[in-house]
Amino acid sequence: MTDRKLSWGVISTAKIGQRAVNPAIQASSNGELLAVASRDAGKARAFAEEAGIPTSYGSYQALLDDPSIDAVYNPLPNSLHREWTIRAVEQGKHILCEKPLALDAAECREMEAAAAANGVKLMEAFMYRFHPRTERVLEMVREGEVGDIRQIRSSFTFPLDRPDDIRWDRELGGGALMDVGCYCINVSRTLARREPVEVRAMANFRDGGVDQQMAGSLRFEDGLLAHFDCALTMDRTEVYHLLGTDGHIRILDAFVPGTEDVVIERFDAEDNLTPISVPGGDEYRLMVEHFADAVLNDGPLRYSPEEAALNMKVIEALYESARNEGEVVAVD
Ligand SMILES: NC(=O)c1ccc[n+]([C@@H]2O[C@H](COP(=O)([O-])OP(=O)(O)OC[C@H]3O[C@@H](n4cnc5c(N)ncnc54)[C@H](OP(=O)(O)O)[C@@H]3O)[C@@H](O)[C@H]2O)c1
Repeated sequence: MTDRKLSWGVISTAKIGQRAVNPAIQASSNGELLAVASRDAGKARAFAEEAGIPTSYGSYQALLDDPSIDAVYNPLPNSLHREWTIRAVEQGKHILCEKPLALDAAECREMEAAAAANGVKLMEAFMYRFHPRTERVLEMVREGEVGDIRQIRSSFTFPLDRPDDIRWDRELGGGALMDVGCYCINVSRTLARREPVEVRAMANFRDGGVDQQMAGSLRFEDGLLAHFDCALTMDRTEVYHLLGTDGHIRILDAFVPGTEDVVIERFDAEDNLTPISVPGGDEYRLMVEHFADAVLNDGPLRYSPEEAALNMKVIEALYESARNEGEVVAVD
């Protein structure tokens, strides 16, 4: 262990940085946020002043050129994750990049190779995995507390009322599956503890552009099925539900539960509910602390870029299915 703190910089004035990840870095026990960059120097300066960040830059490259920055947080639009992650690792920066890590599995693997070639760490910022409740559910699954898992349901929807949001832009990697459905795919694969062999999906595309709503299914070997839905046009719902041979578990407010104490709803085979209380936590802070700890102590990251590539493989297959009237698509 070391008392040294990781020096972070953030590229862009993205809302998720402002709202959750930048404050988490500032509150973390082993990191400090030294700089923010924006395409617009004035915007970067105002953002830095407002957030108490000591340095601002008028270009992302200027931040990457700063030798006092060890790690970069990348919350750019999805289509820019690959380019700026690779530019950062080539400057020797460790990088925490927003979900989904890239537009497809091939990009994820290219980013992984670049990080490895430059001897730096790269992780996808799926923060829900660091929440104590997610870890407890995974432990319950590993210990077979509801028997053999046979079915997984998940949903992530919300109403996106900003017409110029990056999520409506296909060129920027928008769409419901890319934005929130990716959590459903991630939690399904994580709970299943294996990869699906085939998928199918149906979607409503907005004016021939991005999917604003999708429903889909994943088939795993030995009959485990998962189904999910996601949307940018519905009331907010975040839930997953896993059904085993000996009961079922339901998780409400599944992905962004806030910092209050939360509950795991565990039902027995007769549908009797036993709520299990789990102390809350800031999943963003737990994520950045894990990342910083891995960098500072040269330890392993819990989630690899290859894990992100496998998630993208499934997402790619779902888009192929949705664009072909729901045909079944094999996941390589
Ligand atoms: N983990 C989570 O909880 C979570 C939640 C929300 C979003 N996200 C992810 O975080 C990323 C950003 O999402 P967000 O909602 O925070 O986005 P956002 O507020 O729209 O921010 C994106 C930033 O990227 C920069 N940018 C560079 N080129 C751009 C372009 N062509 N169009 C628009 N912006 C451009 C802009 O910063 P400058 O103008 O300062 O350069 C902009 O502020 C996405 O990958 C998203 O999936 C994660």
